[in-house]
Amino acid sequence: MTHTQTERTLVLVKPDGVRRGLIGEIIRRIEAKGYRIAEAHLRTADRDVLTHHYEEHKGKPFYEPLVSFMSSGPLMALVVEGNRVIEGFRSLAGTTDPTTAAPGTIRGDLARDWGLPVAQNLVHGSDSPQSAQREIALWFPHIHQGH
Ligand code: TYD
Ligand code: MG
Repeated sequence: MTHTQTERTLVLVKPDGVRRGLIGEIIRRIEAKGYRIAEAHLRTADRDVLTHHYEEHKGKPFYEPLVSFMSSGPLMALVVEGNRVIEGFRSLAGTTDPTTAAPGTIRGDLARDWGLPVAQNLVHGSDSPQSAQREIALWFPHIHQGH
């Protein structure tokens, strides 16, 4: 029996990460962990893609500020591949609130404020295989998703 599970996840370097010049540092951490960048795309997201991306949060108090922040400048969308990368990248990223995210994580080391009205926490990572599949199809509609 094997515990190897090659997966793909959708990572976004959010507009705060691009503005702060942290694309390289974030990709460095992903590659240093042993994951592979399978696709990359720098773009300013329109509200349409963000509405779909964050549909689970529609109606929450931080939803509108979140969509505005996420469309405030270019972001880098990545498909990242590796063994159990969906969970693994969430662990590399750290918890949602950068104030208390563990040192050693992307959010813990490189972000600081909860930043009302919305957290500027540098990265997004899919939270389940279902989310990963849906989000990769949304951000990279041209790529074939076979496993
Ligand atoms: P969520 O999916 O809960 O967090 P994560 O990015 O860790 O999966 O929320 C999406 C983003 O919304 C989160 O990265 C930052 C922002 N957010 C807030 O600003 N305030 C909040 O209370 C929550 C839950 C999220
Ligand atoms: Mg989430």
